[in-house]
Formats: sequence, structure tokens, C-alpha cells
Amino acid sequence: MQPSSPNEFVAMLDCQRHLFDIPDDVAYLNCAYISPLLNAVRDAGIAGTQRKSHPWEIFPRDFFTDAEEARGLFAELIGATANDVALGSAASYGTATAARNLPVQPGQRILVLQDQFPSNVYSWHALANESDGTILTLQRPQDDDWTRSVLEALDERVAIAALPHVHWTDGAMLDLVRIGARCREVGAALVIDGTQSVGVLPFDVNAIQPDFLAVATYKWLLGPYSAGFIYVAPKWQEGTPLEHNWINREGSEDFSNLVDYRDSYQPGARRYDVGERGNIHLVPMAKTGLRQLLDWGVGSIQYTIRARTDRISERAADMGIAALPPELRAGHYLGLRFPGGVPEGLADRLARKNVYVSVRGREAVRVTPHLWVTDEDEDRFFEVLASALAH
Ligand SMILES: Cc1ncc(COP(=O)(O)O)c(C=O)c1O
Repeated sequence: MQPSSPNEFVAMLDCQRHLFDIPDDVAYLNCAYISPLLNAVRDAGIAGTQRKSHPWEIFPRDFFTDAEEARGLFAELIGATANDVALGSAASYGTATAARNLPVQPGQRILVLQDQFPSNVYSWHALANESDGTILTLQRPQDDDWTRSVLEALDERVAIAALPHVHWTDGAMLDLVRIGARCREVGAALVIDGTQSVGVLPFDVNAIQPDFLAVATYKWLLGPYSAGFIYVAPKWQEGTPLEHNWINREGSEDFSNLVDYRDSYQPGARRYDVGERGNIHLVPMAKTGLRQLLDWGVGSIQYTIRARTDRISERAADMGIAALPPELRAGHYLGLRFPGGVPEGLADRLARKNVYVSVRGREAVRVTPHLWVTDEDEDRFFEVLASALAH
């Protein structure tokens, strides 16, 4: 055990495959694509669907209690309070909410990274167009040190830095504590897409102080598809939601007075909740995934998966395949770069052996294991790699 912060100890966790429904002959090293459901999360989804078969057992309070609990669990994961959390439907819902509320003056810049995921790009294109701002896209630095290049680009001309914690293509990690501090110095807002990091890499809103954080639940939060969370810093909690639904207005708990229309909202970030956010199928699933993550501890999850990716990276290096150095990448993510390009037919060979990673054209292979991965899975991946390189 080693301390990761004054209040948290991290431990090497045992393999957790027994909690998932993954056949022995499947080597799934692709959590950055879609995580498998924990059996408990699947069961929560089935139970939610069964409840819809008996709507007479669904009470008005149920639209609120589950959502509040989910808010609180996500808040606990990132060091926030439930009041700071809105329920969304996707990462794009969170970034669009941020774009709806952050000001950009004509000529000001919105900073993004080269090849950033589109859900954290298109809203900024639209905002730049509407406000006569410009998009500043930082090119991938030769030395892969995104933190340095972001810090160099952050000056008074930047209105918004819209960034990930971990680049989705290869796991390159940004030091968001330093970037957050620099944003505050130059008066830029910081918007983070945490979809490839929150739940597996510690994220503390008190240390980073983002203005908005958007996260989809279907990857590292081990939750369902079509759900997400948005952290909203207190200073932006009086803004305008993307849509005007009944439940985010003040007093919506009182079903008999819903047509007593109000201008006022539910407190805190709740005004930004997506319509039908009390989703009786998805919210219980999201809650169950969050509880399991909190139970394992995010520091311990990261520590355990890093041990696996360090080993994979060393074995790949022995075959002449490079990954980012440990200090520049997140522990749950590897982008393997083949000196002569990805071998012809690698994707097919992997699929024939039930080995799942992301093969991105001829450029790189993305390997993203989680706690279900076994040593046998890892060995099978290397067997396929060795045979592909031999041909
Ligand atoms: C970095 C990142 N953000 C967001 C998403 C998903 O976005 P959305 O929830 O808007 O579909 C992905 C999916 O691959 C991603 O890699």
C-alpha cells in the first residue's frame, strides 16, 4: 500500500472478473470503447425495466430519490457536492451546456487539442461562430508533453480551454492542476471532458477547479449508455439550461401544481438536468456502477491497472513497439505505436482469437484494460501480436 493523497491509501486490487459476465475465451482490453456491465449493473437495469411493467408501483418521489442519490455518488467520486452535479445524457450534453453559458468576446480564443474527441469540439466550433471567436487547435507536440504546450498557449486571449484529462487516442495525460491554475491566472474558463478518465483516474474538483466537467457513463464509470454527469462550478449555477423541462423547475416535487408555471429552478446545478433525467432504467444502473467504483477506490483502480499497462508496455517494448513513457500517460491507457505501421490483418487476427483492443488504421493500437483482465488475456494478446509481426 502507498499513500496517494493525505486521506487516501491505494492498494493493489485482485482481479474482479467474477463480477462481470465475460466468457473465459474473451480477452477484452477495450474499456475506452465501451465497458462491459458489472452483473450488478445489468441486474439493476433489468429491475428498472421490470418496474416499468408495473407503473402502479412507481411513485412521484421515485423521480427524485434515485436521481439525488446518483448525483451524490458522482459528487463523492470527484470531491464535489450533490448540489454541483447535473444529470445529462452524454458527454456532448455537458460540453453543450458549458458552451451555452460561457462567454466569448469577438477575437477571443477557444483552446482544443489536435484530434480531440468530437463531443468536446463541435460545440466550441458553434460557439466560436456565434461569438466571432476563434478556435486554437494545439498540434500534437513532438515530445508528447501536452501540459507544456497547453501552458504555453494559455494567455489573456484565451476565453475557454476545452480539454480532456487523457487524450482518447493514446492515453497522453494532462496535468490539470497546473493547467487549472494557469486558466485562473489568465481569466480563461476550464471545461473538461472526463469520459476517458473519471472513475479510473483520480479527479478532484477542489484541486483542478474546472468550470464544467462532462462525463458519459458507459466507459470508465461502468454504467449504461445514454447517461452522463455534469459538474458545474458554483459560479455558473445561475445559467441557462439547454432545454426547459418540468422537473428542473422549483416545486416540481408537487405533481398537483405542475401547471403553476415558475421561472425559478431547482437549486444548484439541477437546472441543467436533461429531460426525463429520473430515468428508472438508467439511473439505478449508473448508481450501482458508481457505488462499486467508490468501494474499490479510484486510486486503487488506477494503481492496479497501471501495473498491468506497465507490464504490457515493457513486453511491447521488447518487440520493438513503443508506448508513451509512464510519466506522460495515464495508467489505464496505452497507445502502441508500431515502427513500420500496424501489421496488415492485425485486427482480423485479434478478432479470430477473441482479443479485443482498438486498432486505429495503420497508426496505433489502443489497449485499455480494467480489473477484469487476467494474465491469460494479456498472454493471448501478445501471442497474436507475435504471430502478426512474424508474417
Ligand atoms: C473522449 C471522449 N469523450 C466523449 C465520448 C463519448 O461522447 P458522447 O457521450 O457525447 O457520445 C467518447 C467516446 O469515445 C470519448 O472518447
